[in-house]
Amino acid sequence: MARVISTRTYDRRFLAAANNAQAHKLRFLEARLDATTAVAASGAQAVCAFVNDDLGANVLGLLWDQGVRLVVLRSAGFNHVDLEAAARIGMAIGRVPEYSPHAVAEHTVALMMTLNRRTHRAHARVREGNFSLDGLLGMDLFGKTVGLIGTGKIGACFARIMAGFGSRLLGSDPQQSAECIAAGLRYVPLDELLRESDVISLHCPLTPATRHLIGHDALSSIKPGAMLLNTSRGGVIDTSAVIAALKDGQLGSLGIDVYEEEADLFFRDLSDEVLHDDVFARLLTFPNVLITGHQAFFTVEALTAIAETTIDNVDCFVATGRPRHPVGVEKLVG
Ligand code: NAI
Repeated sequence: MARVISTRTYDRRFLAAANNAQAHKLRFLEARLDATTAVAASGAQAVCAFVNDDLGANVLGLLWDQGVRLVVLRSAGFNHVDLEAAARIGMAIGRVPEYSPHAVAEHTVALMMTLNRRTHRAHARVREGNFSLDGLLGMDLFGKTVGLIGTGKIGACFARIMAGFGSRLLGSDPQQSAECIAAGLRYVPLDELLRESDVISLHCPLTPATRHLIGHDALSSIKPGAMLLNTSRGGVIDTSAVIAALKDGQLGSLGIDVYEEEADLFFRDLSDEVLHDDVFARLLTFPNVLITGHQAFFTVEALTAIAETTIDNVDCFVATGRPRHPVGVEKLVG
């Protein structure tokens, strides 16, 4: 028996299809997992969670006390799990290490091209009968320098696409990727990447080492007017520092699919409610900021792969006591 937390209709559809032999009894809950909702896990051996669920020490302990022995994440990122606490109590954690790096890389390109050529503003204008081009000036990406921070699976996909644009590729990552080098990417120190890039795209995980990697110091050394893209995790960027850089023009534009405090906002319809997050509200006022609500992963192919890997993690745990793709404390390094 498993409780599937933070679910929407699309999660139910894809997980029910992957569980086609009805091997597991799944109970779907819309609520986000936290210390209050953890009681809903009573009677379940596994909990299936998403990116904004609280999997801190307290919640893991509450789940364990109710008999839960496995937490399967429907995500690649695991920055929201207290892995040390999980290891201490013996809770197994599984994840989906790879589903569709294309989905995220292609969404990054969508953010970049929309910001660059202002297609969102052009669309709104044309519908109003306004065919003026003022304010829509973009740049050729051919020959421009694109810097990738993180060149793993998603970074490699993004590098291949940008090689197709004819951009010059720079990378920063403690682990070099042969695929990226083959796409023409050159590894350079982070400060050189920041100094030289017209577009900076973040594809590293959120770890203690990458939290606020893009803060006041990094932003003061970027090429004035550069574009910053973040489809990794909100915490890699210091949002207040980014707002200051947008205000003084040092940062030319910002495209984000993730936000530091997104847990209280994303994946819900809040259109009838007052927005309480003043930092997010400030971001919304900039004409050169484009925000999507953590949808980079949201393709049919990715949801199919997430559901199949999640069910496989549970199958494997039942058979061997370990999920197919476990996450342990060793992953915290880096
Ligand atoms: P990956 O593990 O294949 O690659 C991550 C790369 O970042 C690795 O090569 C690693 O060495 C590098 N890295 C680690 N620390 C670094 C640092 N300090 N500086 C530069 N590079 C560093 O992971 P993948 O699949 O490419 O995903 C990357 C991230 O994208 C995930 O951790 C997740 O947070 C995010 N993501 C976002 C999604 C969305 O819907 N917006 C969906 C899926 C993933």
